[in-house]
Amino acid sequence: MKVVVIGANGQLGTDLCRVLADQKISVVPLTRRDIDVSESVQVDRVLGELQADVVISTAAFHKVEECERQSTQSFAVNATGPRNLALACRQNNAVLVHFSTDYVFDGGERCPYKESDLPRPLNVYGVSKLAGEHIVRLTWDRHFVIRTCGLYGVAGSAGKGGNFVETMLRKASEGAPIRVVDDQVLTPTFTGDLAETVSKLIRTEAYGLYHVSAEGECSWYEFARKIFELGKLTVDLRPVTTTEFPSPVQRPAYSVLSKQKLTQLGIAVNTWQDGLASYLGARRDARKTVNTTVL
Ligand SMILES: NC(=O)c1ccc[n+]([C@@H]2O[C@H](COP(=O)([O-])OP(=O)(O)OC[C@H]3O[C@@H](n4cnc5c(N)ncnc54)[C@H](OP(=O)(O)O)[C@@H]3O)[C@@H](O)[C@H]2O)c1
Repeated sequence: MKVVVIGANGQLGTDLCRVLADQKISVVPLTRRDIDVSESVQVDRVLGELQADVVISTAAFHKVEECERQSTQSFAVNATGPRNLALACRQNNAVLVHFSTDYVFDGGERCPYKESDLPRPLNVYGVSKLAGEHIVRLTWDRHFVIRTCGLYGVAGSAGKGGNFVETMLRKASEGAPIRVVDDQVLTPTFTGDLAETVSKLIRTEAYGLYHVSAEGECSWYEFARKIFELGKLTVDLRPVTTTEFPSPVQRPAYSVLSKQKLTQLGIAVNTWQDGLASYLGARRDARKTVNTTVL
């Protein structure tokens, strides 16, 4: 199997390349320098030349506040981009794996969202990602559209300048009090775990829309508390409400995704607590490697 990974230097893209290569799959990693998904001519040319069996795209414009201000750019990357990819995959008969988000939901529920639940995004990012989902599903049948939630990976999100775990650990090292919202509930998901699940999904022909995150749920505050507990750090951490952190962008108060459809395929996922422990281990290993290389 030959797999192209677009966004290969992002946090999910990095783990996808590693996991697939470990499974002896032939991986072609592409960064934005190699392919800009919003440029249809380039997408056609690059994917036409590569003739992959599977194209996995993690490309997104996902700085939520910037999406609100730059809706044209948001739709170019998050909606026109997936259309370009779906058309090229259809032309080359390649499976397309495209990632979407829990932010397609309004957060009004209090039990995990199923794939069949009605999306109602609260912000431009969510609307543009929902458009991207629809356009992939409309254009090319051999797709996996994967909605996921609260990603963090060792590579860190270039788009967001790191990830939540690293932000918490940095703040803890600075010793200042830390305030984290306790009224937004999600499932934090380690990109290493998500990459493992994707590697199983692409071995099936069960195309369609899937919810894939870790198992369980917590607020951002509870997530932070677990980070400090596993990191054995004593921190002045307090819960606050979303209204205490005014933002021009509305976010869902509850965005937990049901994995029932995935489970029916026989694919199980880790809990978010296990994912966090794996992340902290992978992070330690990565730092050891860097130190050894420097020495
Ligand atoms: N992060 C989250 O919490 C979260 C939650 C739910 C869903 N998702 C979805 O999961 C996917 C992966 O997210 P992530 O956290 O791994 O993001 P990330 O670390 O920021 O990686 C995104 C990658 O896409 C590339 N990219 C951006 N615009 C592009 C374009 N026009 N053409 C080609 N490549 C482009 C980026 O390249 P540059 O580095 O050059 O910009 C980067 O390598 C996205 O689809 C996102 O919407 C993320």
